[in-house]
Amino acid sequence: MLSVSWDTIRLFLHVLAATVWVGGQITLAALVPVLRRLGAEIPRTAARRFNLVAWPAFGVLIITGIWNIAAVHAQIHGSYQTTLVVKLIVVAISGVTAALHARARKPAWIANYGALTGLSALAALFLGVLLAGLSGTPGPPRNQHPSRSGSAGLPVPVGNVG
Ligand code: HEM
Repeated sequence: MLSVSWDTIRLFLHVLAATVWVGGQITLAALVPVLRRLGAEIPRTAARRFNLVAWPAFGVLIITGIWNIAAVHAQIHGSYQTTLVVKLIVVAISGVTAALHARARKPAWIANYGALTGLSALAALFLGVLLAGLSGTPGPPRNQHPSRSGSAGLPVPVGNVG
């Protein structure tokens, strides 16, 4: 078995939170037509319930995102830096439009902000995968990446699991 490192835990938490924020929005959007048939207030009740996990997940994305930046700090220059800045702008749009979506009352604004937060969340996901080295640039495997053993990346694997 591969050894578990702090990189593993950091990216596991970041990706887990991304699955809730992005996957949750897509799932809720798919359920809305059926929920609406059960009653006008049902979609809003379901959305409020979703918010109870969505916003903590967004919080985890920001905390693990900052940890990500600390772990790959040596790599943040040139096109990587540009991609990261674009991603942070997209993440901010995703958060702000999600908050506006939750507060909107007019159906048109609920739909507009809902679409914006969903699209920007998808864009953040794509940019995240791009940053994580799936950009086709050859390099050493993740755990041995020189820039990842910065102060925040903890050089020693957490433990061998078998
Ligand atoms: C909607 C919010 C966000 C989503 C959906 C998201 C998604 C992702 C995904 C899927 C990855 C790839 C992980 C992997 O394959 O290993 C990633 C990596 C990354 N994310 Fe995010 N992220 C979000 C917010 C943030 C924030 C707020 C920051 C910074 C404060 C951030 C910084 C990074 C960095 C630096 C990487 C590269 C990590 C590495 O290669 O070790 N992300 N993100």
